[in-house]
Amino acid sequence: MTKITAAITAVGGYVPQFVLTNKMLEEMVETNDEWITSRTGIKERRILKKEEGEGSSYLAIQAAKKILEKQHLDPAEIDLVIVATATPDSMVASTAAFVASEIGAKNAFAYDLLAACSSFLFGMSTAARYIESGRYKKVLLIGADKMSSIIDYTDRTTCIIFGDGAGAVLFEPNTEGLGLKDEYLRADGSGRQFLGMEGGGSLLPATEQTVRDRKHFIFQDGKTVFKFAVSNMADVAERIMKRNNLADTDVSWLVPHQANKRIIDATANRMGLDQSKVLMNIQRYGNTTSATLPLLLSDYEDKLKKGDNLVFAAFGGGFTWGSIYLKWAY
Ligand code: UT7
Repeated sequence: MTKITAAITAVGGYVPQFVLTNKMLEEMVETNDEWITSRTGIKERRILKKEEGEGSSYLAIQAAKKILEKQHLDPAEIDLVIVATATPDSMVASTAAFVASEIGAKNAFAYDLLAACSSFLFGMSTAARYIESGRYKKVLLIGADKMSSIIDYTDRTTCIIFGDGAGAVLFEPNTEGLGLKDEYLRADGSGRQFLGMEGGGSLLPATEQTVRDRKHFIFQDGKTVFKFAVSNMADVAERIMKRNNLADTDVSWLVPHQANKRIIDATANRMGLDQSKVLMNIQRYGNTTSATLPLLLSDYEDKLKKGDNLVFAAFGGGFTWGSIYLKWAY
């Protein structure tokens, strides 16, 4: 019997209209364009304003619709919708269920997957298993985050980094050996003290005090997270290459999480990759958490060729991190 692999067969991306530039941030906190650009590579990010739409679901729906329109896909054919996110619309009710209904995926089951900045990467692994099982034919994986909903715009250590956006991919069965080939995924719970949001969960439910103490905003010990991110993202990417006998010349593209240009450069260096093979859009969107990887695929779709070897790498809160090797299918 021919082996079924899980291939990405379509991509779609969406960023909201409002552009928050470094210059604008200079008016809001004690920072400057030179500092932000040299330390992170970010020039501007997109913010979802109320007038345009609300919630991560809005962003997810826009990205999903791009795929439906491009592929002339009947949403009733979709078996499963996964929304990878760190900012679901609300606690408890699945954001993915709402998204599935709104796009007309009436025969799909749907759920959210939360693993901070690694949500989409882990979602690729999850989506692939459903396809490989042979039971499901169309899995829509969406990475969507409205990071502005949990950012303190008086905190210069976080507000310069994050932005809002969404990207979606369709996974379908492939019998040519294309699609997801290998993965190495990791987690280390000791990392939660360095990056996260303390309030609003079961550990520290919302009270007047938690609001006063600004516990419903993201915090990070940037330096510590930076060190872990640099070494771990490079380690896993190198490991995936070795395990699959991929030389630097065999890798067509590195698809790295967009948290900091210096982290991306360090990963590419360890892999021995030329800059021209590194997908990057951090300068325009900042860190969109679960949306960085699919937004890269969407922005660079024209450059990707059938059979190209893509190495994905991500690192995020938790800590969570990993790398995936995937052969492009179209
Ligand atoms: O996606 C999830 C994973 N997240 C990450 O991967 C983020 C990893 N961390 C980073 O990207 C970097 O650590 C940051 C961009 C957050 C910070 O860069 P850094 O080079 O590590 O700077 P730092 O935190 O060591 O701060 C250096 C200095 C400090 O001043 P002093 O103590 O040296 O006087 C900060 O107070 O820069 C100051 N600083 C700023 N200055 C201007 C911190 N934020 C800013 C700012 N503008 N926005």
